[in-house]
Amino acid sequence: MALSQADIPVQPRAAAALPPRVRIENLRITFPRPDAPPLEVLSGISLDVADGEFVAVVGPSGSGKSTILRAICGLLKPAGGRVRVDGRDVSAPPPEVGFMFQKDALLPWRTVAQNIRVGAELGGVPASRQAARVAELITLLRLDGFADAWPKQLSGGMRQRVSLGRLLAYNPSLMLMDEPFGALDYQTKISMGRELLRIWEAERRSIVFVTHDIEEAVALADRVVVFSARPARIVGDYKVDLPRPRDLRAMRGEPAFVHLTETIWSDLALPV
Ligand SMILES: Nc1ncnc2c1ncn2[C@@H]1O[C@H](COP(=O)(O)OP(=O)(O)OP(=O)(O)O)[C@@H](O)[C@H]1O
Ligand SMILES: [Mg+2]
Repeated sequence: MALSQADIPVQPRAAAALPPRVRIENLRITFPRPDAPPLEVLSGISLDVADGEFVAVVGPSGSGKSTILRAICGLLKPAGGRVRVDGRDVSAPPPEVGFMFQKDALLPWRTVAQNIRVGAELGGVPASRQAARVAELITLLRLDGFADAWPKQLSGGMRQRVSLGRLLAYNPSLMLMDEPFGALDYQTKISMGRELLRIWEAERRSIVFVTHDIEEAVALADRVVVFSARPARIVGDYKVDLPRPRDLRAMRGEPAFVHLTETIWSDLALPV
């Protein structure tokens, strides 16, 4: 007897069956150079980021980590291959994507509170809620007392926290973060990481998080992608099977954590 459509049991849609938020296929990025052939930075990178997935990218300095983030949000034109976000080719930053640059990009003529408020405005937080949201983020990011300070009056780590505040106020469904905690001391790094995980666990944003800190990558992410030296290829792609919610300090001593960080270290030590 032939089965009709109605006889086939309906399966709940598995998370894995959802289309990826980001699909990178065979991406090649080059930069022109005077008096030399173009500099090849990414060579044939393919990578998917699933809906709600937290992917960390690690790799040596100059390997192309910032470059891939810029390509994902359409700031760079591929020399080959393609980048799609939510099924569409990107040619300009899509509104659902928020970017936290490696070097903070604060508006120097706006105060801390006003810089964070830009995120709330762009993210469509109702005008009546914006001040409260900004105040909440200022406390969360330990910037109390600095709401009216100008960016030039802040330390590098404080500026990074303001950038994070702006991103969280914008609250995009895909966050691209370029070494967001790079300028922070260990304790602040752990507390910012906890905060990011708290928000991510509650709202399941998709995150691509670039860092050169392997322990940070393993502690936070679902998956760690390892880049080779330039031109970057993917030399490792690991699922991080550590339970959540994670205790960012305690987990660093666990055998599974140590094993994975050691494996990634050895990937990075591969000859190029
Ligand atoms: N706009 C640009 N024009 C020319 N070359 C560039 C440009 N942006 C990046 N590069 C080159 O591309 C390579 C990769 O740079 P990228 O910033 O992606 O590295 P990275 O992996 O983020 O390094 P780091 O860990 O130091 O931040 C470097 O050699 C850099 O000089
Ligand atoms: Mg970089």
